[in-house]
Amino acid sequence: MSDRQEIDARTRICAVYGDPVKHSASPAFQNAGMAALGLNWRYLAFNVRPQDLKEAIEGARRMKFIGLNLTVPHKLLAYSMLNELDESAKTWQAVNTVRFEAPDSTGQWKGLAEFAPEEITDVRAVGYNTDADAIVRSIEEDLGVVAQGATILILGAGGAGQTAALKLAASGAKKLYLVNRTIEKAEAVQKEIATRYPDTETVVNYPDRASNVDLVLNATSLGLRAGDPLPFDSNKFSLSQAGAAYDMIYRPAETPFFTKARDTGCATANGLGMLLYQGAKALEIWSGKPAPIEPMKKALLNNIYGK
Ligand code: ATR
Repeated sequence: MSDRQEIDARTRICAVYGDPVKHSASPAFQNAGMAALGLNWRYLAFNVRPQDLKEAIEGARRMKFIGLNLTVPHKLLAYSMLNELDESAKTWQAVNTVRFEAPDSTGQWKGLAEFAPEEITDVRAVGYNTDADAIVRSIEEDLGVVAQGATILILGAGGAGQTAALKLAASGAKKLYLVNRTIEKAEAVQKEIATRYPDTETVVNYPDRASNVDLVLNATSLGLRAGDPLPFDSNKFSLSQAGAAYDMIYRPAETPFFTKARDTGCATANGLGMLLYQGAKALEIWSGKPAPIEPMKKALLNNIYGK
């Protein structure tokens, strides 16, 4: 790994905007990635209130930042605040990554990483979504579950659950069971899948007790707080029906859902892989280089678990 370059007058900036943002692990692992790539870049976290988001993006554009990540509660809000949207942002209707671009001498738009700041006059902001791909990559790499042909129970149909369900359907999942406290949200996701990905069968309910699933995915916020109940109804579903269990929560590293799934014999993973892969993809979009996964992962583990 290269040594981190000293900050000087040529240091370029990436940032995450969120509210709250102080617990974000992104600065720790993005700076490790940038250092490993030998870039004279830094990645900072800014607490940006939703009502200031538009001006904060505009400020970054004018100051020729390389790019941004957007986290809670900005991913949907930013959708209408950018000059262009990549296919990924259009498909998942949310933006978690922004790349600032300028035209080269032939008029082709390229990331600001390719220009010295003093050469840049015109800048546009382009929105991307790297969250959806990260879900599928993480369940595949961390659990060995391939979405294509899989049967999956998704717990939660909020922002994260909806993106997971749509992405898994887009990736060829055979059957999705959708469960949410507010049933209407699960039904809305079911409707969207029926329109966009009709080859995937969806059921708004638990599988019956005689049916197994390849994966059960927790996309609810249950488990974030100590004392939270399990994110499913134990009278209607048992973890022994699942080959693998994924908890999108990574802090705490082990939720009651995670522990119970492991103790039941499921392959288990938490949301750390998702966080890592969405960030790695963002760094690739900004830098045009393959992300150095190992140093990024090491910094992420160190930041979250102190190891
Ligand atoms: P995110 O963007 O992280 O998905 P969200 O959109 O607020 O955040 O979604 C939170 C998810 O956790 C939802 O599925 C939510 O259920 P509702 O849609 O019914 O609100 C679920 N959730 C949160 N608290 C819950 C609780 N006490 N019991 C059951 N589900 C809960």
